[in-house]
Amino acid sequence: MRISLRQLKVFLMVAKCLNYTRASEQLFMSQPAVSKQIKQLEEEVGVCLFEKVGKKIFLTEAGHDMQSYANSILGLVSEAKDHFSQVKGGQKGRLKVAVATTASSFAIDMLGQFRKTYSEVDFDIEVTNRQTLLSHLDRNLVDLVIMGQPPENNQYSVEPFMKNPLVFIAPIDHPLVGERVTVGDLIKESFVAREEGSGTRQAMDAFFEAQAGELQVGMLFNSNESIKSAVASGFGLALVSVHTIQAELEHASLAILDVENTPIQRFWYLVHLKEKRLSAVAETFRNFILDKAV
Ligand code: PGA
Repeated sequence: MRISLRQLKVFLMVAKCLNYTRASEQLFMSQPAVSKQIKQLEEEVGVCLFEKVGKKIFLTEAGHDMQSYANSILGLVSEAKDHFSQVKGGQKGRLKVAVATTASSFAIDMLGQFRKTYSEVDFDIEVTNRQTLLSHLDRNLVDLVIMGQPPENNQYSVEPFMKNPLVFIAPIDHPLVGERVTVGDLIKESFVAREEGSGTRQAMDAFFEAQAGELQVGMLFNSNESIKSAVASGFGLALVSVHTIQAELEHASLAILDVENTPIQRFWYLVHLKEKRLSAVAETFRNFILDKAV
């Protein structure tokens, strides 16, 4: 069936006015042009949409059906127009963000703030470690990644937006709390560490390597929550981002050690494949995060 939107609009106006002259005035068209559109529409659907009784015209039964279809079709077209103009403007769409395990302590909150302003945006959020984030980027599974240790080749756009200091933590009654601590002191201790593949773990290994100190890892966890519990319970010391221990510092349930050459100064980065064309909504989110950069 070949029906144009214009035919439907003309039809609806005639159905509303039930008068060709008035309808053509409203449509800024000549009366013969209006009659031609209606005739073509009637030929296309194969039934009469109007009937003339005396000098008046009325909708036929089929005309009433067409009125209801035309309203639905034009309503949907206008809905689609609104939808795509919002998608184009970055107010609507699906945002795929993957966040480093450690960054989730603040990134979920940032995503929540974004959602308050952009309530029409749908989210795919994944929290995982650095290695998986890199694989997601390479396989084009995400729009943007928030991570602490960006990849080093120039395939990626890498934008720092917030400081990420890493500190050594201990239970509050540990003998090193309040002391000036050297790497020599640390290597006598046992550590609770993140799994291989974690950015924090990589930074910890790099720190000990640079200071020529051998690290003793007694326990491995892939969650910062488990690491904090293990440290508080006396299973060892750990290196964590200060972003993960705000509540513990407030309640004085864990202590930061005063270790030489720490805090290890790092940043949180927003990363995406340079080749990837960011969707409007991903671009809106990127600007939202970078506006908050400190
Ligand atoms: P992680 O990432 O949670 O994998 O340790 C944080 C980071 O890259 O610093």
